[in-house]
Amino acid sequence: MYKIVKKERLHEVIYSTWIKAPEVASSVQPGQFIILMITERGERIPLTVADFDRERGLIRIVFQIVGKTSEELSTLEEGDELYSFIGPLGKKTEIENYGKVITVGGGTGIACIHPITRALKEAGNEVISIIGARNKELIIMEEEIRKASSKLIVTTDDGSYGRKGFVTQVLKELLDKDKSIKKVWTIGPAIMMKVTCETTKPYPVETIVSLNSIMVDGTGMCGSCRVTIGGETKFVCTDGPEFDGQLVDWVEFMNRLSRYKDSEKKSWDFYHEHTHLCSCGRGIN
Ligand code: NAD
Ligand code: FES
Repeated sequence: MYKIVKKERLHEVIYSTWIKAPEVASSVQPGQFIILMITERGERIPLTVADFDRERGLIRIVFQIVGKTSEELSTLEEGDELYSFIGPLGKKTEIENYGKVITVGGGTGIACIHPITRALKEAGNEVISIIGARNKELIIMEEEIRKASSKLIVTTDDGSYGRKGFVTQVLKELLDKDKSIKKVWTIGPAIMMKVTCETTKPYPVETIVSLNSIMVDGTGMCGSCRVTIGGETKFVCTDGPEFDGQLVDWVEFMNRLSRYKDSEKKSWDFYHEHTHLCSCGRGIN
Protein backbone atom coordinates (compact mmCIF):
# COMPACT_ATOMS: atom_id res chain seq x y z
CA MET A 1 0.00 0.00 0.00
CA TYR A 2 1.17 3.53 -0.80
CA LYS A 3 0.46 6.25 1.73
CA ILE A 4 -0.50 9.83 0.86
CA VAL A 5 1.83 11.91 3.02
CA LYS A 6 0.88 15.36 1.77
CA LYS A 7 -2.16 16.73 -0.04
CA GLU A 8 -2.73 20.26 -1.34
CA ARG A 9 -5.60 21.75 -3.28
CA LEU A 10 -4.03 23.93 -5.98
CA HIS A 11 -7.38 24.93 -7.49
CA GLU A 12 -11.03 23.96 -7.03
CA VAL A 13 -10.46 20.93 -9.30
CA ILE A 14 -6.66 20.45 -9.20
CA TYR A 15 -4.83 18.57 -6.45
CA SER A 16 -1.20 17.83 -5.62
CA THR A 17 -0.29 14.78 -3.57
CA TRP A 18 3.01 13.36 -2.35
CA ILE A 19 2.92 9.56 -2.14
CA LYS A 20 5.30 7.30 -0.22
CA ALA A 21 6.74 4.98 -2.89
CA PRO A 22 10.46 4.47 -2.14
CA GLU A 23 11.19 2.02 -4.99
CA VAL A 24 9.68 4.37 -7.57
CA ALA A 25 11.38 7.43 -6.05
CA SER A 26 14.79 5.74 -6.05
CA SER A 27 14.87 5.29 -9.83
CA VAL A 28 12.38 7.71 -11.42
CA GLN A 29 13.73 10.12 -14.05
CA PRO A 30 12.19 13.28 -15.57
CA GLY A 31 9.54 12.50 -18.20
CA GLN A 32 8.50 9.16 -16.71
CA PHE A 33 5.05 8.29 -15.40
CA ILE A 34 3.32 6.02 -12.91
CA ILE A 35 0.04 4.09 -13.01
CA LEU A 36 -2.00 4.08 -9.83
CA MET A 37 -5.07 2.23 -8.61
CA ILE A 38 -7.10 3.51 -5.69
CA THR A 39 -8.63 0.10 -4.91
CA GLU A 40 -8.09 -3.46 -6.10
CA ARG A 41 -11.01 -3.23 -8.54
CA GLY A 42 -10.44 0.40 -9.49
CA GLU A 43 -9.44 1.98 -12.79
CA ARG A 44 -5.74 2.27 -13.58
CA ILE A 45 -4.73 5.88 -14.16
CA PRO A 46 -1.44 6.98 -15.68
CA LEU A 47 0.05 10.25 -14.40
CA THR A 48 3.32 11.88 -15.35
CA VAL A 49 5.51 12.48 -12.29
CA ALA A 50 5.49 16.16 -11.21
CA ASP A 51 8.34 15.89 -8.69
CA PHE A 52 10.24 13.40 -6.55
CA ASP A 53 12.24 13.28 -3.34
CA ARG A 54 14.65 10.34 -3.43
CA GLU A 55 15.81 10.74 0.17
CA ARG A 56 12.31 10.61 1.64
CA GLY A 57 11.05 8.09 -0.95
CA LEU A 58 8.29 10.37 -2.21
CA ILE A 59 6.63 10.97 -5.58
CA ARG A 60 4.47 14.01 -6.32
CA ILE A 61 1.52 13.75 -8.67
CA VAL A 62 -0.77 16.57 -9.75
CA PHE A 63 -4.19 15.77 -11.14
CA GLN A 64 -7.35 17.49 -12.24
CA ILE A 65 -10.84 16.14 -11.58
CA VAL A 66 -11.95 15.05 -15.05
CA GLY A 67 -13.98 11.92 -14.26
CA LYS A 68 -14.98 9.32 -11.72
CA THR A 69 -11.54 8.04 -10.69
CA SER A 70 -9.88 11.46 -10.43
CA GLU A 71 -12.83 12.68 -8.37
CA GLU A 72 -12.50 9.64 -6.10
CA LEU A 73 -8.75 10.28 -5.82
CA SER A 74 -9.47 13.85 -4.73
CA THR A 75 -11.45 12.55 -1.73
CA LEU A 76 -8.43 10.70 -0.27
CA GLU A 77 -6.67 12.49 2.55
CA GLU A 78 -3.20 12.46 4.12
CA GLY A 79 -2.71 9.06 5.77
CA ASP A 80 -4.97 7.23 3.29
CA GLU A 81 -3.38 4.58 1.07
CA LEU A 82 -3.51 3.67 -2.60
CA TYR A 83 -3.86 0.02 -3.56
CA SER A 84 -1.11 0.18 -6.20
CA PHE A 85 1.42 2.63 -7.55
CA ILE A 86 3.47 1.19 -10.40
CA GLY A 87 6.50 2.86 -11.89
CA PRO A 88 8.63 4.41 -13.06
CA LEU A 89 7.17 3.67 -16.49
CA GLY A 90 8.11 4.88 -19.96
CA LYS A 91 11.36 6.29 -21.23
CA LYS A 92 13.08 9.17 -19.53
CA THR A 93 13.54 12.57 -21.19
CA GLU A 94 16.79 12.83 -23.16
CA ILE A 95 18.61 15.41 -21.08
CA GLU A 96 21.80 16.89 -22.56
CA ASN A 97 23.44 20.28 -22.69
CA TYR A 98 21.78 21.58 -25.87
CA GLY A 99 22.37 25.28 -25.18
CA LYS A 100 19.21 27.38 -25.19
CA VAL A 101 15.91 25.49 -24.95
CA ILE A 102 12.23 26.15 -24.24
CA THR A 103 9.77 24.17 -22.13
CA VAL A 104 6.04 24.79 -22.60
CA GLY A 105 3.39 23.65 -20.10
CA GLY A 106 -0.36 24.14 -20.46
CA GLY A 107 -3.04 23.48 -17.83
CA THR A 108 -2.12 20.52 -15.62
CA GLY A 109 0.69 19.80 -18.10
CA ILE A 110 2.55 22.57 -16.22
CA ALA A 111 3.17 20.07 -13.41
CA CYS A 112 4.58 17.45 -15.80
CA ILE A 113 7.00 19.89 -17.46
CA HIS A 114 8.51 20.76 -14.04
CA PRO A 115 11.07 17.93 -13.55
CA ILE A 116 12.11 18.15 -17.22
CA THR A 117 12.72 21.90 -16.91
CA ARG A 118 14.74 21.44 -13.73
CA ALA A 119 16.88 18.64 -15.20
CA LEU A 120 17.57 20.66 -18.36
CA LYS A 121 18.76 23.60 -16.29
CA GLU A 122 20.88 21.36 -14.06
CA ALA A 123 22.50 19.98 -17.24
CA GLY A 124 23.68 23.51 -18.06
CA ASN A 125 20.99 24.62 -20.52
CA GLU A 126 19.51 28.09 -20.55
CA VAL A 127 15.85 27.16 -20.13
CA ILE A 128 13.03 29.54 -20.98
CA SER A 129 9.72 28.23 -19.62
CA ILE A 130 6.32 29.28 -20.90
CA ILE A 131 3.35 28.20 -18.81
CA GLY A 132 -0.27 28.95 -19.64
CA ALA A 133 -3.79 28.37 -18.41
CA ARG A 134 -7.28 29.69 -19.02
CA ASN A 135 -7.08 32.13 -16.10
CA LYS A 136 -4.96 33.18 -13.11
CA GLU A 137 -6.51 30.64 -10.70
CA LEU A 138 -5.52 27.76 -13.02
CA ILE A 139 -1.81 28.69 -13.11
CA ILE A 140 -0.19 26.05 -10.90
CA MET A 141 3.34 25.49 -9.54
CA GLU A 142 4.47 28.91 -10.72
CA GLU A 143 7.19 29.33 -8.09
CA GLU A 144 8.59 25.82 -8.62
CA ILE A 145 8.78 26.37 -12.39
CA ARG A 146 10.35 29.81 -11.90
CA LYS A 147 13.04 28.25 -9.70
CA ALA A 148 13.63 25.42 -12.19
CA SER A 149 14.01 27.77 -15.21
CA SER A 150 16.40 30.49 -16.32
CA LYS A 151 13.40 32.63 -17.31
CA LEU A 152 9.63 32.17 -16.93
CA ILE A 153 6.83 33.66 -19.02
CA VAL A 154 3.24 33.15 -17.87
CA THR A 155 0.20 33.45 -20.12
CA THR A 156 -3.54 33.32 -19.48
CA ASP A 157 -6.19 33.01 -22.16
CA ASP A 158 -8.29 35.76 -20.56
CA GLY A 159 -5.39 38.07 -19.62
CA SER A 160 -6.17 37.84 -15.88
CA TYR A 161 -2.45 37.21 -15.18
CA GLY A 162 0.78 37.46 -17.17
CA ARG A 163 0.57 37.84 -20.94
CA LYS A 164 -2.89 37.56 -22.52
CA GLY A 165 -3.17 34.73 -25.06
CA PHE A 166 -1.99 31.18 -25.71
CA VAL A 167 1.47 29.85 -24.88
CA THR A 168 2.06 29.32 -28.60
CA GLN A 169 1.91 33.07 -29.30
CA VAL A 170 4.81 33.72 -26.91
CA LEU A 171 6.67 30.72 -28.32
CA LYS A 172 6.44 32.11 -31.87
CA GLU A 173 7.72 35.51 -30.71
CA LEU A 174 10.72 33.88 -29.02
CA LEU A 175 11.53 31.73 -32.05
CA ASP A 176 11.32 34.77 -34.35
CA LYS A 177 13.60 36.80 -32.08
CA ASP A 178 16.20 34.22 -31.08
CA LYS A 179 17.74 31.89 -33.65
CA SER A 180 19.90 30.15 -31.04
CA ILE A 181 17.00 28.13 -29.56
CA LYS A 182 17.77 24.46 -30.10
CA LYS A 183 14.88 22.41 -28.80
CA VAL A 184 11.34 22.67 -27.38
CA TRP A 185 9.46 20.34 -24.99
CA THR A 186 5.71 20.72 -24.62
CA ILE A 187 3.16 19.06 -22.30
CA GLY A 188 -0.53 19.89 -22.01
CA PRO A 189 -3.82 19.30 -23.78
CA ALA A 190 -3.46 17.50 -27.13
CA ILE A 191 -4.62 20.54 -29.11
CA MET A 192 -1.97 22.69 -27.43
CA MET A 193 0.80 20.20 -28.24
CA LYS A 194 -0.44 19.94 -31.85
CA VAL A 195 -0.50 23.74 -32.26
CA THR A 196 2.94 24.00 -30.61
CA CYS A 197 4.28 21.63 -33.29
CA GLU A 198 2.63 23.67 -36.05
CA THR A 199 4.24 26.79 -34.54
CA THR A 200 7.75 25.33 -34.42
CA LYS A 201 7.56 23.58 -37.82
CA PRO A 202 9.01 26.48 -39.88
CA TYR A 203 12.03 26.73 -37.53
CA PRO A 204 15.02 24.37 -37.23
CA VAL A 205 13.95 23.35 -33.73
CA GLU A 206 13.17 19.80 -32.61
CA THR A 207 9.87 19.62 -30.70
CA ILE A 208 9.26 16.91 -28.12
CA VAL A 209 5.72 16.15 -26.95
CA SER A 210 4.56 13.92 -24.09
CA LEU A 211 1.50 11.95 -25.14
CA ASN A 212 -1.16 11.09 -22.57
CA SER A 213 -2.89 8.14 -24.26
CA ILE A 214 -5.51 6.01 -22.57
CA MET A 215 -3.59 3.14 -20.95
CA VAL A 216 -4.42 -0.19 -19.36
CA ASP A 217 -1.36 -2.29 -18.50
CA GLY A 218 1.36 0.30 -19.17
CA THR A 219 3.79 -2.40 -20.27
CA GLY A 220 3.18 -2.74 -24.02
CA MET A 221 0.79 -5.72 -23.82
CA CYS A 222 -2.74 -4.39 -24.41
CA GLY A 223 -2.33 -1.98 -27.33
CA SER A 224 -4.59 0.64 -25.75
CA CYS A 225 -2.01 3.42 -25.98
CA ARG A 226 -1.19 2.77 -29.66
CA VAL A 227 -0.18 5.85 -31.68
CA THR A 228 1.26 6.39 -35.14
CA ILE A 229 4.62 8.13 -35.24
CA GLY A 230 6.17 8.80 -38.65
CA GLY A 231 3.91 6.12 -40.17
CA GLU A 232 4.92 3.46 -37.64
CA THR A 233 2.85 2.03 -34.81
CA LYS A 234 4.29 2.81 -31.38
CA PHE A 235 3.11 2.27 -27.82
CA VAL A 236 3.16 5.38 -25.66
CA CYS A 237 3.77 3.34 -22.49
CA THR A 238 6.97 1.64 -23.66
CA ASP A 239 8.21 3.63 -26.69
CA GLY A 240 7.19 7.01 -25.16
CA PRO A 241 5.63 8.96 -23.61
CA GLU A 242 7.89 11.45 -25.41
CA PHE A 243 8.02 11.61 -29.19
CA ASP A 244 9.13 13.95 -31.95
CA GLY A 245 5.95 16.05 -32.23
CA GLN A 246 6.37 16.63 -35.98
CA LEU A 247 5.93 12.88 -36.58
CA VAL A 248 2.75 12.35 -34.51
CA ASP A 249 -0.49 11.50 -36.34
CA TRP A 250 -2.49 14.06 -34.34
CA VAL A 251 -5.88 13.27 -35.90
CA GLU A 252 -5.63 9.61 -34.90
CA PHE A 253 -4.22 10.47 -31.46
CA MET A 254 -7.03 12.91 -30.67
CA ASN A 255 -9.72 10.52 -31.98
CA ARG A 256 -8.38 7.69 -29.82
CA LEU A 257 -8.28 9.96 -26.75
CA SER A 258 -12.03 10.55 -26.98
CA ARG A 259 -13.11 6.98 -27.76
CA TYR A 260 -14.40 6.16 -24.24
CA LYS A 261 -16.04 9.55 -23.61
CA ASP A 262 -19.59 8.07 -23.40
CA SER A 263 -18.69 5.25 -21.01
CA GLU A 264 -16.54 7.62 -18.91
CA LYS A 265 -19.54 9.93 -18.56
CA LYS A 266 -21.84 7.01 -17.63
CA SER A 267 -19.35 5.83 -14.99
CA TRP A 268 -19.05 9.36 -13.54
CA ASP A 269 -22.85 9.82 -13.45
CA PHE A 270 -23.21 6.41 -11.75
CA TYR A 271 -20.57 7.41 -9.16
CA HIS A 272 -22.48 10.61 -8.37
CA GLU A 273 -25.82 8.79 -8.14
CA HIS A 274 -24.46 6.10 -5.80
CA THR A 275 -22.06 8.11 -3.67
CA HIS A 276 -23.12 10.36 -0.83
CA LEU A 277 -20.75 13.05 0.30
CA CYS A 278 -20.40 13.36 4.05
CA SER A 279 -19.75 16.76 5.66
CA CYS A 280 -15.96 16.37 5.34
CA GLY A 281 -16.38 16.12 1.53
CA ARG A 282 -15.26 12.47 1.32
CA GLY A 283 -17.28 9.94 -0.59
CA ILE A 284 -19.17 7.17 1.21
CA ASN A 285 -20.47 4.34 -0.98
P1 NAD B 1 -6.64 24.22 -21.27
O1 NAD B 1 -7.60 23.83 -22.32
O2 NAD B 1 -7.08 25.17 -20.24
O3 NAD B 1 -5.33 24.79 -21.99
C1 NAD B 1 -4.16 25.11 -21.28
C2 NAD B 1 -3.33 26.04 -22.12
O4 NAD B 1 -2.97 25.40 -23.33
C3 NAD B 1 -4.06 27.31 -22.56
O5 NAD B 1 -4.00 28.29 -21.54
C4 NAD B 1 -3.27 27.71 -23.78
O6 NAD B 1 -2.10 28.44 -23.46
C5 NAD B 1 -2.90 26.35 -24.36
N1 NAD B 1 -3.84 26.01 -25.43
C6 NAD B 1 -5.08 25.47 -25.29
N2 NAD B 1 -5.67 25.36 -26.50
C7 NAD B 1 -4.79 25.85 -27.40
C8 NAD B 1 -4.81 26.04 -28.81
N3 NAD B 1 -5.86 25.67 -29.56
N4 NAD B 1 -3.73 26.60 -29.40
C9 NAD B 1 -2.65 26.96 -28.67
N5 NAD B 1 -2.57 26.81 -27.34
C10 NAD B 1 -3.62 26.27 -26.72
O7 NAD B 1 -6.02 22.97 -20.58
P2 NAD B 1 -6.58 22.16 -19.35
O8 NAD B 1 -7.98 21.78 -19.60
O9 NAD B 1 -6.21 22.75 -18.06
O10 NAD B 1 -5.61 20.92 -19.57
C11 NAD B 1 -5.93 19.72 -19.18
C12 NAD B 1 -5.56 18.80 -20.33
O11 NAD B 1 -4.17 18.58 -20.35
C13 NAD B 1 -6.25 17.49 -20.19
O12 NAD B 1 -6.80 17.18 -21.45
C14 NAD B 1 -5.12 16.56 -19.86
O13 NAD B 1 -5.35 15.27 -20.35
C15 NAD B 1 -3.95 17.21 -20.52
N6 NAD B 1 -2.69 16.83 -19.89
C16 NAD B 1 -1.79 16.22 -20.66
C17 NAD B 1 -0.62 15.78 -20.11
C18 NAD B 1 0.36 15.05 -20.96
O14 NAD B 1 1.12 14.27 -20.46
N7 NAD B 1 0.37 15.31 -22.24
C19 NAD B 1 -0.35 15.99 -18.78
C20 NAD B 1 -1.27 16.67 -18.00
C21 NAD B 1 -2.46 17.08 -18.58
FE1 FES C 1 -1.19 -1.28 -22.88
FE2 FES C 1 0.49 0.67 -23.59
S1 FES C 1 -1.01 0.72 -22.06
S2 FES C 1 0.21 -1.26 -24.55
